[in-house]
Amino acid sequence: MFERPRGTRDFGPEEMAERRKLENLLRKTFESYGYREVMTPTFEHTELFVERSGEAILDEMYVFKDKGGRELALRPELTAPVMRFYAQDMQRHPKPLKLYYFGQVFRYERPQKGRYREFWQMGLELIGTDTPEATAEMISVAYDAMTNAGLKNFILRIGDVRILKDFLEKKGMNTRETLRAIDKKDAENLSREIREFIYANNPEKMEEYGPADEVDHYMEVLEILKSAGVEYEMDLGIARGLDYYSGVVFEIDAPALGAEKQICGGGEYRLAELFGAQPVPTSGFAIGFDRTLLALKKEGFGAEVPGSCVYIIPSEKSIALAFSFSRKLRKDGMRVEMELGRRGIGKALKKASTLGARYVVIIGEDELRKSVLSLKDMKTGEQRELSEDELISVLKTACQKGD
Ligand code: HAM
Repeated sequence: MFERPRGTRDFGPEEMAERRKLENLLRKTFESYGYREVMTPTFEHTELFVERSGEAILDEMYVFKDKGGRELALRPELTAPVMRFYAQDMQRHPKPLKLYYFGQVFRYERPQKGRYREFWQMGLELIGTDTPEATAEMISVAYDAMTNAGLKNFILRIGDVRILKDFLEKKGMNTRETLRAIDKKDAENLSREIREFIYANNPEKMEEYGPADEVDHYMEVLEILKSAGVEYEMDLGIARGLDYYSGVVFEIDAPALGAEKQICGGGEYRLAELFGAQPVPTSGFAIGFDRTLLALKKEGFGAEVPGSCVYIIPSEKSIALAFSFSRKLRKDGMRVEMELGRRGIGKALKKASTLGARYVVIIGEDELRKSVLSLKDMKTGEQRELSEDELISVLKTACQKGD
C-alpha cells in the first residue's frame, strides 16, 4: 500500500467544502479592493529564489534538475514569481497594479500541526506605489479578509524593518543571528538594549535612531489604520524571515493555534530591480490558507457538502429514458444523480436518502406504460404521478429554491 508523502494531505469532500467556502470568502475581500487574480507556474528556476528569499526558505526548498539539466525549485512562496512575471510582461501596465493569487507552495520543513510541506497561500502584491495610504490599504485587505471570513480571535502586529535594521546597525548588531532571535521572539538571546527598543514601541526612541522619513512613514500608516478602526499592535520586533523586506512589515497571529499561530505576513519590499525591472515600490502579503482554516474551525467554522436535489431510479427498460431525462434536468441547473448500480427500488431509495436527495423520480414499468413519471418527496414521503413537462417545472422551482 502507498502512503501520501510526509507533510502532504489528502482532502475529502467535507474538507473541500470548507476550503472552497473559505477560498471564496477571501477572494471576495481581495476583489472588493480591486485586486485581480494571476497564476504563475508551480516551479521556477531555483536562481529566482536564491539570495532574495532568505536563508531559512532556501534551506527549505524542494530543488531538482530536470531532464534538460535545468536547476528548478518548487516555489516556496509567490512574491518572487509574481515579481518575475511583472518584470517579464507587465512593466508597462498602468500603476498601481493590484495582483492577487491563490496557490500551493512547498517547503521542506519538519511537519507538525499547522506546518506542512505542501500548503496554500492566498496573497497579493501591490506594485507601483508606497504612499502611507497604499500600505495602510494593503494591510487592511488582510485585516478585512480575516474579519469577513468570520475570524474573531486574531492579532495584527505592525513593525518596520528599516527602523529596526537602522537601530541594529547603529549598535553594531545587525547580524543574521540577532535578526533571527528577534524574529523568533527569543528574548533570552537579546541584549537588554535591543529588548527595550523592540518591545517599548516608544516613538521618541524610534526618532532617536530610525531614519526620520521612515519613522514618519510608519507613523502615518498607523495613523490611517487607527482612524479607520483597524485594530493593531505596534511591534518593532518583526524581522520577517524573507530578506526582501524594506520598510513597514506586519504579521497576523491566531493565538488559539499555539506554536504555528502566524496566519499571515507581509510588508513593503524591493525585488523589481533584482529581476531586471525599473525600480518600483512594492508591497504585499500572503495568508497561510490552511492555518487560517484551522483557526476558523476552532471558532466553529464549517460548510456543508451540497447534496443532489434529484435522484432518478429507472427500471431496466427505462435506463435510456432516465439517462436523457437526467441530462435535461442538469441543463436546467439542477444537481441530479441517477441510480447507476441497478439496485431494486427499495435499496435505491435508501441510497437516495443517504445521499440526502430531496426528490426521487421513479421511472418503472408502470410509469412507462402510463407515460408518466413518479415524483417522490423525500421529506414528506408523498408520491404522485406527473407528465415529463409538469415534473420539470415542479423540480425547476423546488430545486432552485435550494430545497
Ligand atoms: P511567509 O510569512 O513566509 O510570507 O508565509 C506566509 C504565511 O504562510 C505564513 O504567515 C503562514 O501562515 C503560512 N505558512 C508558512 N509556512 C507554512 C507551512 N509550512 N505550513 C503551513 N503554512 C505555512 C511569504 O510567503 C511572503 N511571500 C508574503 C509576502 C507577499 N510578502 C510580500 N508579499
